[in-house]
Amino acid sequence: MFDAKEFVEEKIEEIKAAIPGRAVIACSGGVDSTVAAAIVSKAIGDRLLTVYVDTGFMRKGESATVSKIFDNLHLNYRIIDASEEFFSALKGITEPEQKRKIIGAGFIRVFEREAKAFHSEYLVQGTIAPDWIESGDKLRDTIKSHHNVGGLPEDMKLKLVEPLRDLYKDEVRKVARHLDVEVSEKQPFPGPALAIRVIGEPTRENVEIVREACAIVEEELEAAAKRGEMERPWQYFAVLLPVQSVGVQGDRRAYGRTIAVRAVESIDGMSAAYSRIPHDVLEKISLRITSEMKANVNRVVYDITHKPPATIEWE
Ligand code: XMP
Repeated sequence: MFDAKEFVEEKIEEIKAAIPGRAVIACSGGVDSTVAAAIVSKAIGDRLLTVYVDTGFMRKGESATVSKIFDNLHLNYRIIDASEEFFSALKGITEPEQKRKIIGAGFIRVFEREAKAFHSEYLVQGTIAPDWIESGDKLRDTIKSHHNVGGLPEDMKLKLVEPLRDLYKDEVRKVARHLDVEVSEKQPFPGPALAIRVIGEPTRENVEIVREACAIVEEELEAAAKRGEMERPWQYFAVLLPVQSVGVQGDRRAYGRTIAVRAVESIDGMSAAYSRIPHDVLEKISLRITSEMKANVNRVVYDITHKPPATIEWE
């Protein structure tokens, strides 16, 4: 049986010995990286610099929420707006693995800059077991290059510290609850963020569309769960498809974009079943997206595929 208290105590001692100097952590405000930051800062205090990179692909209101969470954890942190850099690196890029590698490399470049300015020699990452298992090792094929593993450049100068690399998601949540990290119940969110929820080129305009649709999906499912109409799914979001279809708006022909809604039940993300969301709730989501976003979207579909054979994200 996994014991969160014991795990944290052991890791703090290990990290004290492993990091004699200064370290930086790439923290997205998600459960994994925030738990990693909380543990390492308990071990080495302000010798840890927590860096949040606003890539331009974050969810609605995310940067503001994240800085509040960091304040509550008394982290020594910086928020860097690197969106210009990321959008231009991804110009014309549509292939999922290429997107992931470019984003991974971009993250590391930003961190190397920050680490250098902070005179840090160590890079802490919130990598958990499914991240490296799915990114491939000697025994397995690569399914996806998770950005915090597959995107690491070979000439990286920082020494890597990954305190959560043996844990699965449910264990990380236990550690989060033990440490009172208020993101413990937050749904998982991928490192490459909304860039991989735009199928096709992640332009500012496309990312803005999927950001709005994701916010509607989150609001409606959380509201339905609060009203007791359903359980909150394990993960739930929107994907912008590169498909246009014909519709009607008033008495005029429309030719609009398509949003796919994805919601799944899972324990650790390794396998998943699509959520049986009540049709009334799906209808609310569809009506809101097609009315509030009618300038762009005229069709909403629901993804009813399990993992396997699909993955949770579309890219
Ligand atoms: P897939 O799509 O592979 O995702 O079934 C499994 C879980 O992992 C999340 N995910 C990521 N997490 N970096 C991460 O930290 C990534 O590059 C990444 N890609 C996918 C995904 O949201 C799901 O919860």
